[in-house]
Amino acid sequence: MVTVRAPATTANMGSGYDVFGAALTRPADLVRVERAAETTIEVTGTGSRYVPEDPADNTAGVVAAELDAPAHVRVNKGVRPSSGLGSSAASAAGAALALNELYDLGYDREQLVAVAAAGEAAVAGDAHRDNVAPALLGGFTAAGDELVQVDAEVPLVACLPETVVSTRDAREVVPESASVEDLVATVGNAATLVAGTFRDDPALVGAGMDDPVVTPARAALIDGYEAAREAALAAGATGVTVSGSGPTVVAACYPEDRRAVASAMVDAFVDADVRARAYQTAVGPGARVLDGR
Ligand code: HSE
Repeated sequence: MVTVRAPATTANMGSGYDVFGAALTRPADLVRVERAAETTIEVTGTGSRYVPEDPADNTAGVVAAELDAPAHVRVNKGVRPSSGLGSSAASAAGAALALNELYDLGYDREQLVAVAAAGEAAVAGDAHRDNVAPALLGGFTAAGDELVQVDAEVPLVACLPETVVSTRDAREVVPESASVEDLVATVGNAATLVAGTFRDDPALVGAGMDDPVVTPARAALIDGYEAAREAALAAGATGVTVSGSGPTVVAACYPEDRRAVASAMVDAFVDADVRARAYQTAVGPGARVLDGR
């Protein structure tokens, strides 16, 4: 039996649509695997009733099939499904690492990223690596043609409103084209964000989150977004954007401002008649084996 803690992740980070991602110190899923003749899945925890237990429809089940590693898989969800915090990616990444250990398969973490992405693709329809890459490699990742990882320690607040935004809707509102002016601004911001992760500099990371193309279109799907963004900035956040495809709103900040930013964001959502909770978190390590075999 092997147990893995697999972290939530925040994808895009504003200027890095479908490319950037970061592992969060919390929340996280726990994935426990035991050898079995056939794969079965059991899901408990937050939002578990929305997660299919049929192995063909569950990212962890697809990962077990990809690895030819049948197991009884127990997933305790700490990452709410459809939150914009890489919930299915956490389960896929956790299952890939746990099964690699259980069956002594010898894959390295980058190889497991490809396996977990296949699990995501089978269930979600798209094989973006912007959540599974940081979930397995930790820190900040840029998953373009190359897969690049940087260890980073930037404080973040991930504020999750009690609303649902479907990834399909969130992808449909993304503009099909962008002006050269907006592309220039996005490249500048993306480069600033990457430099900020190398320096563990919350000011640069926050400034680099600005994105004139994708985020404004998606923010319109999240009731209370503008109020939460303004409240976070007033409380000291250095930058605010939509986490993944939403509805979580993520803010970068200095450590001493994190608590105030978290409560300002929750209050702003509540004032907009939307219940919300905030995770005081940070860029952190990837999935890790807690106990094994
Ligand atoms: N990058 C994706 C999106 C989400 O924003 O739609 C995670 O893969």
